Amino acid sequence: MCGIISISSDKPFTSEELLTRLKRLEYRGYDSWGYWNGKKLTKEIGRITISDDKEPVTQAISHTRWATHGGVTQENAHPHRAGKVTIVHNGIIENWREIKKDLEAKGKTFLSETDSEVIVQYLNHEREQGKEIHNIIPAFMNTFKGTFAALIMVDGDENVYAAKRDSPLALGICDGRLILASDIYAFSDITKQAIFFDNDEWAIITPKTYMFYKDGKKLDKQPQTFEWETLEEDKKEYPHFMLKEMHEEPSVNRRLIDSLATDQKESFEKLVSLIKKARKTVFTAAGTAYHASLLGASFLHQCGVNAQAIIASEFENFITIDKDTLVIAVTQSGETMDVIEALKYSKANGATVASIVNVPYSSIERMSSLSLQILAGQEVAVASTKAFTNQASMMLALAQAFGYENGLDALPKKLSGILSLEPELKTLAEELHEQHDLYVLGRKLGYPVAREIALKIKEISYVHAEGMMGGELKHGTIALIEDGVPVISLIYDDDAKMRGSTQEVRARGARVVVIGTTKDADIVIPADSEAEFAILASTVGQLLAYHIALARNCPIDKPRNLAKSVTVL
Ligand code: M6R
Repeated sequence: MCGIISISSDKPFTSEELLTRLKRLEYRGYDSWGYWNGKKLTKEIGRITISDDKEPVTQAISHTRWATHGGVTQENAHPHRAGKVTIVHNGIIENWREIKKDLEAKGKTFLSETDSEVIVQYLNHEREQGKEIHNIIPAFMNTFKGTFAALIMVDGDENVYAAKRDSPLALGICDGRLILASDIYAFSDITKQAIFFDNDEWAIITPKTYMFYKDGKKLDKQPQTFEWETLEEDKKEYPHFMLKEMHEEPSVNRRLIDSLATDQKESFEKLVSLIKKARKTVFTAAGTAYHASLLGASFLHQCGVNAQAIIASEFENFITIDKDTLVIAVTQSGETMDVIEALKYSKANGATVASIVNVPYSSIERMSSLSLQILAGQEVAVASTKAFTNQASMMLALAQAFGYENGLDALPKKLSGILSLEPELKTLAEELHEQHDLYVLGRKLGYPVAREIALKIKEISYVHAEGMMGGELKHGTIALIEDGVPVISLIYDDDAKMRGSTQEVRARGARVVVIGTTKDADIVIPADSEAEFAILASTVGQLLAYHIALARNCPIDKPRNLAKSVTVL
């Protein structure tokens, strides 16, 4: 989380341009923001407001924050400054307490509660001992444990310095300027050339030159050309990016299906053969991508493939990995730190690592031996919608290569049909929006979907929602069912067990909403297979969650406490 950016330019630029670029990274965190341009330090709480400061400058660093250490206050906002040194930082310093104690003992006074301020106080202290910044940075990288992408400016020095370990950092090569940023969105409108930092590299940047170093040696790093559609800054006719992105599902789904038969055919076949070769296939992911992974594991399991899905943050605790294991990371951003850690663990244990990503050139794509793209296009809303649909469709495509029932080709059209259910779902949302608790039940493929619908409702409408296995209800949770409690039941093809679970809650007074395939369902999904039902019911859930959040007047695209890209553990 947190977005950082610096501009080093031949020609003067203003804070307006810097902040317009920083705004492109706001999805990474939006608690507070700030910048330093060599003349002025600004720190503010809340969303980035584009400054009218017209002062021309040639270098600046800036930051948009998702708070980890210390609350959302102006003091804790970045940049942090000590003496003549100013920094912005994305990541988490693990040994900050020890270093802070040491610096305090040497007389340093800290102004914030952040781990990041320890970096700037350390750099400043070392400078005060007469050391040069280019000698201090390698020492900083040896001394500090944890993750960082840090940008550093020193008063009177024309360079911007950058250092990276685990948190993402890229250098955009632009006409007359170099831009360092957490990801390529920050500069993808003006260049297609970038250099991606690898772990433990640091660099010295001027407007025209860059020098990369690692382990005391100068590196010869060359720019690579990236292809990525420019940022969708425009919501078009939609009031929210989330709604726009749901409405893109039919077209991006078609794009994915077509690419698996053309551009991505070879990679797709390679992934299929990796699965065939492996003794077991383990998907790992977080949040929504984990729910898509559960679908994938179930699809493959039904084809006789030994497949599992393990949540990334608990990966090491629940699975044995060896050289015969194929680990497939599933991630929209390609930057989720829990997933990166799970992959490092997998590699250390000899597994082959592949990935299914949305954002190209992301850290996870670059650490995989094979990567497929879901081609959902940029997802701006924090709640993942079209990415989930394409992740689940990629899973279905994989399963089809192992003989699973067909149906993928009809999906884009059926997704359009689901979007036309929006008025019904809006009415339902208006009825449900004042509830405090809500339960979503599913079985088989309906179970991951139940969890996904509940997650969508929680994250954007702040209503407590629990997605669970219908069969598990009677083992405890049914105690919470009383008159009027809403329960959404996902029932494919009149499934007797789900009917049973539904009756059990109805008998205890629940307000039951059936999303199913039979005519008596409250929301009827025209699915010809269980897999199709699972994917289409998820989109129904996205629309329902959206309208519940709308009725509750929530800030849908940027819910409280969240960020689009979760780059901390
Ligand atoms: O970028 P990733 O797919 O790795 O992100 C994983 C989760 O953080 C993400 O899916 C999150 O759960 C969404 N905000 C849910 O809508």
